[in-house]
Amino acid sequence: MKLASRIAHIELSPTFRINAAARALAAQGVDVLDFSVGEPDFPTPPAAKEAGKAAIDGDVTKYTANEGTLELRRAIAAKLLRDNGLTYAPDAILASPGAKSSLSCAVMALFSPGDEVLVPSPYWVSYPEQIRLSGATPVVVPTRESAGFKLTAAELDAACTVSTRGLLLNYPSNPTGACYDAGELAAIAEVARRRDLVVIADEIYEKLLFDGRTFTSIASVSDDAYGRTVVVNGVSKSFAMTGWRLGYAAGPKEIVDAMAKVQSHTTSHPASISQVAAQAALADSEGDVRRMAAKFAERREVIVEGIGSLPGVTLVPPAGAFYVYPNVAGLFGREIGGRTVRSGQDVAEALLAAARIAVVPGEAFGTTHHVRLSFACSMSRIREGIARLQAALA
Ligand SMILES: Cc1ncc(COP(=O)(O)O)c(C=O)c1O
Repeated sequence: MKLASRIAHIELSPTFRINAAARALAAQGVDVLDFSVGEPDFPTPPAAKEAGKAAIDGDVTKYTANEGTLELRRAIAAKLLRDNGLTYAPDAILASPGAKSSLSCAVMALFSPGDEVLVPSPYWVSYPEQIRLSGATPVVVPTRESAGFKLTAAELDAACTVSTRGLLLNYPSNPTGACYDAGELAAIAEVARRRDLVVIADEIYEKLLFDGRTFTSIASVSDDAYGRTVVVNGVSKSFAMTGWRLGYAAGPKEIVDAMAKVQSHTTSHPASISQVAAQAALADSEGDVRRMAAKFAERREVIVEGIGSLPGVTLVPPAGAFYVYPNVAGLFGREIGGRTVRSGQDVAEALLAAARIAVVPGEAFGTTHHVRLSFACSMSRIREGIARLQAALA
């Protein structure tokens, strides 16, 4: 069978691949600890569950407006104003089946072959592939671990060419947890203004910040930034609602209208039931979000301490999100479970074989010296995982 040429240049999401390998081992009865998945282990907030059930019983099960119901978009507008100080009319908002889908619509609506789109690395796995699918060229801009994996304005400026059209900025970052403060964002926004870049800001981990940090949306740092930013967010991570598939985007109306066109010919809209549940979550579940964030903060303490004290491993503690991204270069050349490791990929494979621990190799995020562990799992799993790692690396 001949497949489309665009498929030859993209990979299946590596996080799904690792997860599949871990599940296959588990199906054989092997006791695998899976640290590969970016999915909170908490249940959906009660208000959202109730709203979803009522939607089914009330037969809210038909097609909705392509861009999402007006009620949901009003709830999103209220959230963006309350939390981010951003004013959007409902018609400048698009609800999608997951933030991944909002991002894909934005990339499809904005970029063409010949355009370069900057992606700071380490990056979330889907950005380069989505950009490639649009026909544009992802340009990876490495950040420095010594700078906390944060892109500087100077690095951004140096990466721009006459073909550069956009920047994909994600903070708190998956996989590093890096987060920018208002001053750093203002400097990045100033380069975006000077270079006339559109910014796609993936703010999906906004609510998961540690050590009293607060979140600033890059769209809020200046009028100019507001006019060139598409903010993407969703309920998957903050509200532990991954399976409901509900994300959203807000931005200049012209861009959001173009995204809605893409959506109208691809996914149409998020499930009607999910829209009702997300509306309830956004309106009514701040307390649940805070409780979950507090749990993540406790787990982060334990995993940072545990991973950071492993021999040959160093770690920049994450400012937000629920991942650690340890540097494992100190293990290269050593044997783990009978095999010599020379890359993040090797370490991930060796840990699965020797310690029955699934982690994602840094190669998936654009670096070769790291692995990613998610701490969106119970404290007991985290402690057991650290014990296994200590044994495997002893
Ligand atoms: C940075 C980032 N953006 C977007 C998403 C996708 O979220 P959703 O479940 O809403 O599609 C993820 C999920 O892993 C993510 O880590």
